[in-house]
Amino acid sequence: MGEQTFEVKFEPSGRTVDVLACTSLVEAAGRAGTVLDMPCGGAGTCGKCRVRVDGADAPVDAEVNTFSPEELAQGWRLACRQRVARNMTVVVPESSVFGGRHQILTDHDTGAVHDLEPEVRQARVRMRRPTLDDGMPDLVRIEEALRASGAWNGEGALGASPATLHRTVSALRGGYEGWALLRDGALLDYHPGETRTPSFALAFDIGTTTLAGALLDLSDGTEKAVVSRMNPQTALGDDVISRISHAVQTQDGLCELRNAVTAAVTEMAAELCGNAGIAPDSVHTAAFSGNTTMEHLLCGIDPAPLSMVPFVPVFGRGLSVPAADLGLAVHPEARAYVFPVIGGFVGGDTVAGLLATALPERAGATLFVDVGTNGEIVLSHGGRLWAASTAAGPAFEGARISCGMRATEGAVEKVVIDGRLRLGVIGGGAPAGLCGSGLIDLCGQLLKCGALGGDGRLPAPEALPAALPEDVAVRFRNDADGGTEFVLSDDGSRRVSLTQRDVRELQLAAGAIRAGISILLRQAGLEIGQVEHVLVAGGFGSFIRRDNAQRIGLLPPELPHDRIVYIGNASLAGAKWAALSSRARARAEVIARHARHVELSSDPEFAMEFAMAMYFPGLTGA
Ligand code: FES
Repeated sequence: MGEQTFEVKFEPSGRTVDVLACTSLVEAAGRAGTVLDMPCGGAGTCGKCRVRVDGADAPVDAEVNTFSPEELAQGWRLACRQRVARNMTVVVPESSVFGGRHQILTDHDTGAVHDLEPEVRQARVRMRRPTLDDGMPDLVRIEEALRASGAWNGEGALGASPATLHRTVSALRGGYEGWALLRDGALLDYHPGETRTPSFALAFDIGTTTLAGALLDLSDGTEKAVVSRMNPQTALGDDVISRISHAVQTQDGLCELRNAVTAAVTEMAAELCGNAGIAPDSVHTAAFSGNTTMEHLLCGIDPAPLSMVPFVPVFGRGLSVPAADLGLAVHPEARAYVFPVIGGFVGGDTVAGLLATALPERAGATLFVDVGTNGEIVLSHGGRLWAASTAAGPAFEGARISCGMRATEGAVEKVVIDGRLRLGVIGGGAPAGLCGSGLIDLCGQLLKCGALGGDGRLPAPEALPAALPEDVAVRFRNDADGGTEFVLSDDGSRRVSLTQRDVRELQLAAGAIRAGISILLRQAGLEIGQVEHVLVAGGFGSFIRRDNAQRIGLLPPELPHDRIVYIGNASLAGAKWAALSSRARARAEVIARHARHVELSSDPEFAMEFAMAMYFPGLTGA
């Protein structure tokens, strides 16, 4: 049953993915962890998604209009116009990557880095050796040298921890010319010699289901390594509610949850440093973004108030804590910034996403939707922000779905019905289950061909619409409970199917987000047609096909495709920015305080909107 797949290798990341024939290069890049910049939403008009394709086919009109004849001859094409039809190698320039260094940190016109403003900095110091006539204490000697060179003019005395002073004793006697590592009014370290000490930052997105981390060079903002893994807390609960219950009701539950995530962070930091070949103690700062519950658990803060009306977080402003407290075995004086939160269920990951996308500064009405274990929605309009969260449930992560699985090898991640059923399986092997994008695709395609009604009811095999393709009709079976299931594959040992209950889970998850969008629009006095862009965040978001997401109502069905833009892991992008820049941290604080938190459950219209949103809008056409 499997459809032909091709291997696409992306450079410079070196990542390779197997994708179904006809998959767009944008989607293949997302599959490989590279989210492309798509301001026009894939309409072929902005020219931002440029890539160089090895042995490219003849250009289409949009590409002829975008590139010079020389560039076309070199293989430059628009990723949104290219479909995979063979094994290929694709070079993605940094300027085409969403959230890449050039978008976040540099001026588009000059290419100059203008927002690299780390909380730590190095200053050159030249000192006289102490003598019997000059018995100035070490710390004062460094302070005087810094003042003399103008490298530091702080009020009061330069501070230092006892541990720093202890390290400085031998370092200083190794040479009285060197580099001082400073944060605010404190000395963190001193290194003798001519050469500036390498200095790095770590950024983490602490998701309910997955953890992602990046290592950044503080000298130029470049990303040196990136890693991700499952959040080990999933063993203690699928979603934030069950994690809070575990923390509150189980003896040592909070400790257990905290230790699970900090142990993973410890390993990820070691892996990042190892991959980049750098010494862990050259990491001098870090930033963490996560939803409100995850940030509380990471910091070992009792999350109980988040489970009780009125769901108040313990902290709102960002925290600055010793990096070691969060599991980072890096420089002993390094501190970690934990993002501010907007409310009990609109957390630092959303603030980081708003920071990365500059949502508050956007001129037109823009929706930011983070589809994950929870669904967060923010509407920006006229300089104001409305933020809400929905209990989208973990259906999009494959949980609570009978054959659900995460988007790993063997997961059906793409479904096309074009006279017959075609499946895209991660890794190209036999189907092992359905991941979130596969579930959305399957229901979207069943809706499109009339096999699924707007009410989400799977028809009995004997009551199928007459016009269904044979390859689709034969897959409707009566299940053991007297209901209907749709069988995607069954090789005798493993059966992958969709049940009525699975469809209901999807209706709940998509309906909650759609109803949340309706409430925010109403509060802002807007119609959906006035929304200029919908930014879909979250690693999972990159793999959702717009048509099918609109058919099931997850994304507004009324909007044209070019207004829907996938932006990948915006939380990690924001965390990276905050790791590199104190100014970005200050901006995050403003965003968090400025946003109006809308509690959907207390909105009198929400129940009605939710009930209406449970109905699949359908759609026709491609
Ligand atoms: Fe491809 Fe705009 S031209 S996304």
